[in-house]
Amino acid sequence: MSLISAGEPRQKITVASLREKKLHRQPITCLTAYDYSSARLVDEEAVDIVLVGDSLAQAVLGYETTLSVTLAEMLHHTRAARRGVKHGLLVGDMPFGSYQADASEAVRNAARFVKEAGAEVVKIEGGEKRADLIRRMIDAEIPVAGHIGLTPQSVNVMGGYKVQGKSLSGVEQLMRDATALDRAGVAFLVLECIPREVAAMITAEVQTPTIGIGAGPDCDGQVLVIHDLLNLTFGPPAKFVHHYGDARKLISDAIQAFREDVAGRHYPADEQSYHLPKETRTALDTVLARKQTMRR
Ligand code: KIV
Repeated sequence: MSLISAGEPRQKITVASLREKKLHRQPITCLTAYDYSSARLVDEEAVDIVLVGDSLAQAVLGYETTLSVTLAEMLHHTRAARRGVKHGLLVGDMPFGSYQADASEAVRNAARFVKEAGAEVVKIEGGEKRADLIRRMIDAEIPVAGHIGLTPQSVNVMGGYKVQGKSLSGVEQLMRDATALDRAGVAFLVLECIPREVAAMITAEVQTPTIGIGAGPDCDGQVLVIHDLLNLTFGPPAKFVHHYGDARKLISDAIQAFREDVAGRHYPADEQSYHLPKETRTALDTVLARKQTMRR
């Protein structure tokens, strides 16, 4: 059953409408976007959640890992995305170091995403150990999304980007993490790189919508990094990535064609040039002809 009948204006996506979608088993879509134009395109295609992910670090800023991206950079890009999003739920990802040290500072930083950048939800990484902090943020009227499984901000602790929850104790830990964050009241829960069987168990267990990335098809929704979707990355893709387009080829081909056209003096052509109005042209011709006569 669709919650929106054909012809009705698009509804604003809220935390409550995501829960409705889970209840009605309607798949939830989420894509990252880091600027005005990509956020606007994502929103215009009726994607439910626009996530200004800290994957900004690698996708846009060229850092090695997400650990380097700063709070100022995340706020700057969230503000830009805000200007492109009308209907989707705008989520700002809190970067490494902005919420781990101290709970009061974390709440203040989360509030900056809402107040200064227009985010409707903030996302933080980590399982049961974050439950108290999430409660404090929600108490401060800030909706929070959770993120468990492979949490890239823990790369140095995990010893690399590895699928999580493959052992029995790993599965039990993930179940504890998911239920703790669910009880804390997360707006939704990102499940990254975990076996599909575990993602299915979590999805059945928790009230909050689960949004998978490398977590199989049984989650309540799916998220991809837009640069992965578009093949706009430079390394080998992860197993779960599907390229829905080839922006890298499109952009490279266009740049190459421009360079060749300029080198061969084919661009700009006359139709891409501005022209003098007829009267100015006639007057100029008269002046030039007079100068020519005087020179003789
Ligand atoms: O930063 C990001 O893009 C994310 C997604 C992978 C969920 O957190």
